[in-house]
Amino acid sequence: MTAPASCVRRVPAFPPHLFIANDVPMSHSALPKPATARRSKALSGDIRIPGDKSISHRSFMFGGLASGETRITGLLEGEDVINTGRAMQAMGAKIAKDGDVWVIQGTGNGCLLQPEAPLDFGNAGTGARLTMGLVGAYAMRTTFIGDASLSKRPMGRVLNPLREMGVQVDASEGDRLPLTLRGPKVAAPIIYRVPMASAQVKSAVLLAGLNTPGITTVIEPVMTRDHTEKMLQGFGANLSVETDKDNVRHIRIEGRGKLTGQTIDVPGDPSSTAFPLVAALLVPGSDVTIRNVLMNPTRTGLILTLQEMGANIEILEPRLAGGEDVADLRVRASELTGVNVPAARAPSMIDEYPVLAVAASFARGETVMNGLEELRVKESDRLSAVANGLKANGVDCTEGTETLSVRGRPDGKGIGGGTVETHLDHRIAMSFLVMGLAAERPVTVDDSTMIATSFPEFMAMMTGMGAEISEDSVPA
Ligand code: S3P
Repeated sequence: MTAPASCVRRVPAFPPHLFIANDVPMSHSALPKPATARRSKALSGDIRIPGDKSISHRSFMFGGLASGETRITGLLEGEDVINTGRAMQAMGAKIAKDGDVWVIQGTGNGCLLQPEAPLDFGNAGTGARLTMGLVGAYAMRTTFIGDASLSKRPMGRVLNPLREMGVQVDASEGDRLPLTLRGPKVAAPIIYRVPMASAQVKSAVLLAGLNTPGITTVIEPVMTRDHTEKMLQGFGANLSVETDKDNVRHIRIEGRGKLTGQTIDVPGDPSSTAFPLVAALLVPGSDVTIRNVLMNPTRTGLILTLQEMGANIEILEPRLAGGEDVADLRVRASELTGVNVPAARAPSMIDEYPVLAVAASFARGETVMNGLEELRVKESDRLSAVANGLKANGVDCTEGTETLSVRGRPDGKGIGGGTVETHLDHRIAMSFLVMGLAAERPVTVDDSTMIATSFPEFMAMMTGMGAEISEDSVPA
């Protein structure tokens, strides 16, 4: 493959020890480590949540692709994001850490190199699916592998539009990992209507459009998180978004343009914020302030829902930082009441249903969550995993094909005493540890190692606020 003349051929040499070093975790321990949470006294603290996972993945990807230098502060150093950084390194980006700043010298758009070994994305659907889009339009061979959870997840949703663009796919049964992509000499631009509400699918097609001549169009009937659009515009891509009279978004990207390195300060992850936030609502007497939380409206469905349930969440100092809405949140223990959560809200809180179900377990009356079909294809079948975890801990709930109804106990009586199967899903583990802090009896999760994929500081941050969580299992 010959690279376009615009490709950066000489990148400043970093000392090798500054590259993502091998002591930065790549994949969590193979041995499961159970953990148990017990009823706790009032939580208190003033905390700063690690960087947003979606923005962190994209920062490594777009910085690795853009010409020149990208500097990132606040990056989430979870295993998922580190795996994305390693993949970009394997395709020619130079990545180093200088104090608190990640510094990237990108290859230039159109200039990724064929990786010598399979790219291992561990547990990360976002890293794997977006990178498939990114490399799909390159005339090279790229192999994708991942852990047991990722290897079960459907990739057809991304592979189908890539096939339309001319990419050859050699995948395991059911379009799953391990799989190998072989891009065409020149990819064909497509107009693609995203069939499910998925930011990953939208993003994969747009990223394939970056190295495709002409205009690639994504039609998005239901708006999902818009970090790809906003960040690509920030890096200089010619990308436009038009919303038609039916509220359908038409996103157009012109391929083969120049991307230029940027300075990025990653705001705190609202999906990680959800755990200490719900813990503070449920543990009587708690008062916790959470700083620098991303408040992009495509991500704030949980806060809205909890406020409707009666949660005392004060939004302090709403401001703009790096083109994103951010704010500090003051959260005080609250009595919650069940609500009906409309299906239309699902995209803005898709990762937060497990912890919302925990909040609902302590609310007066019934909470009904609708439009949950996408939960079935997350790190686990989250709808079943949540319902089974609730049942194992004495919570009255009903699992529908795409709904979950939870009937709560405001005093926490009768809740707890069970062990939850996490199925390698970080959000299942963290949600049920939050449950144990307010339940009558302890709650154990069968494994906690995979929490490091998205929130390595979780245990220390929670125990620092007074949460009683320990790495053990309750004796039978
Ligand atoms: C993500 C999109 C969502 C979300 C995931 C991160 C992203 O997945 O669940 O944690 O960064 O684009 P889907 O696009 O599959 O809904």
